[in-house]
Amino acid sequence: MTDKELLVRKIENGTVIDHIIAGRGLKVAEILGLSEQSSETMALLMNVSSQKLNKKDIVKIENRELTQGEIDKISLVAPYATINIIRNSEVVEKKKVKIPEVIEKILRCPNSNCITNENEPIKTKFSIQKEPLRLKCWYCERNFEIEEFKI
Ligand code: CTP
Ligand code: ZN
Repeated sequence: MTDKELLVRKIENGTVIDHIIAGRGLKVAEILGLSEQSSETMALLMNVSSQKLNKKDIVKIENRELTQGEIDKISLVAPYATINIIRNSEVVEKKKVKIPEVIEKILRCPNSNCITNENEPIKTKFSIQKEPLRLKCWYCERNFEIEEFKI
């Protein structure tokens, strides 16, 4: 039995986000709506031993499958993460996250003067450069690091 199985049991239905860079699991849980108000069953495992990553974090969420928007956000904070969909206790689908070229609608521009932060109904759009990770706003054309976003 591995360390992680000793810590948290397997889930019956839901999603396991595995191979999260150690320290980023909390951010992933926040992307999925972890807060004082949330009522979902979620587990956050931090600093689990891993062969591939040395140490990793894992997030498990019961009875929920993720939207592509959530998976895209996760890719920005946990680029090596694996999304495992669990049904009837079995992993029925396993996919690696992929950083998209463009991310639309789901992030707010950190530039408070950006037109997307005015009262007009403009959907945000950022083009993504991978290494180092930078997001460029389509409207104000400023470049941002991921830490500058509230996600
Ligand atoms: N898992 C779970 N509940 C299940 C099935 C799996 O919580 N009913 C978890 C496992 O504990 C693991 C992850 O989902 O953290 C992926 O499971 P599995 O594919 O069986 O593990 P590995 O083969 O180690 O995955 P990988 O090859 O992606 O490292
Ligand atoms: Zn902007």
